[in-house]
Amino acid sequence: MKAMVTTQYGPPDVLQLREIAIPTPAQNEVLIKLYASSVNPLDGFLIRGPLFFVPMIGRLLKPKHKIAGADMAGRVESVGRDVTQFRPGDEVFGASYGGFAEYACAVENSLARKPANLSFAEAAAVPVAAITALQGLRDKGEIQRGQKVLIDGASGGVGTFAIQIAKSFGAEVTAVCSPRNVDIARSIGADHVIDYTREDFTHNGLRYDLIFGANVHHSIFDYRRALSRKGIFVVAGGSMMRLLQAVLLVPLLSWIGSRKTRFFIAKMNTTDLAILKDLLEVGKTVPVIDRRYPLGEVSEALRYREEGHAQGKIVITINHSHDV
Ligand SMILES: NC(=O)c1ccc[n+]([C@@H]2O[C@H](COP(=O)([O-])OP(=O)(O)OC[C@H]3O[C@@H](n4cnc5c(N)ncnc54)[C@H](OP(=O)(O)O)[C@@H]3O)[C@@H](O)[C@H]2O)c1
Repeated sequence: MKAMVTTQYGPPDVLQLREIAIPTPAQNEVLIKLYASSVNPLDGFLIRGPLFFVPMIGRLLKPKHKIAGADMAGRVESVGRDVTQFRPGDEVFGASYGGFAEYACAVENSLARKPANLSFAEAAAVPVAAITALQGLRDKGEIQRGQKVLIDGASGGVGTFAIQIAKSFGAEVTAVCSPRNVDIARSIGADHVIDYTREDFTHNGLRYDLIFGANVHHSIFDYRRALSRKGIFVVAGGSMMRLLQAVLLVPLLSWIGSRKTRFFIAKMNTTDLAILKDLLEVGKTVPVIDRRYPLGEVSEALRYREEGHAQGKIVITINHSHDV
């Protein structure tokens, strides 16, 4: 099979399109013939590895996961002995390692049936970003109908799902993004949009019951100032400096005052993928796709994402040219 292989840690250009063996599923795994994947910040971290933090050490180490690409959508080719939920021919979506390839294995609990109304490319845009939005809003943010919810970083992969999922919970949603993304944010349901180049929501005196930091660019104290008295600030991602601040301060801040700050790492699972499938099938959520790249151009896709201003998701399409 063809795969974009990471031979050493480094920038996206280290990826090479190679012919390698199709993986064999373990007892609890499904082998999927992939038709699409999509790009997440996590892929960049996996490819750059420790080089990202300590360049000297990073150059001496070899990548643990030779094929990046968490998101995947495709058709089940074969299943391990213990797999009960899927069988060959099923169309699935979900996440594992190795999505930048023609075939990949995934444990069955990280997959669900593909939404019937979505193409493989659309379905591959969903898993990591939408699960992050769902778990951040529902589990960490304890989102309730009628609440005032603000999404910062609202126009990226996570943010575009967060707007729509917050609306599906009945919240009044304010999206924060740059001017070029104001129309997109409105078109997917945001009730109010703040252009962060013109207005700083942390200083405008408005208060929110829940702030979801899809891409956190202010200090944790600024976000807390914009919370209502019992408000919750959930940190999903953002610049390295801001994430570090969150990881260090969240435990301390949980002891101070009635406002809560929470940091989390999303966990892929079939139950939540099935919830997203339902939302997608009734049209309460649609994937926003910025660009599509073929498998051989994953490096270009990763570089584009690293510019930091993608509008929604960047999809990788996988064309099995030898198919009849
Ligand atoms: N906790 C978890 O489990 C988890 C899971 C997945 C992802 N993450 C993290 O979540 C973050 C977002 O992921 P993603 O996939 O959404 O990334 P992404 O698609 O690359 O995010 C790009 C978006 O960020 C926005 N942005 C850039 N600067 C901004 C600013 N100053 N203020 C507000 N928005 C700004 C951009 O909007 P404009 O062009 O309008 O500026 C762009 O639309 C990343 O840090 C990622 O590592 C965490």
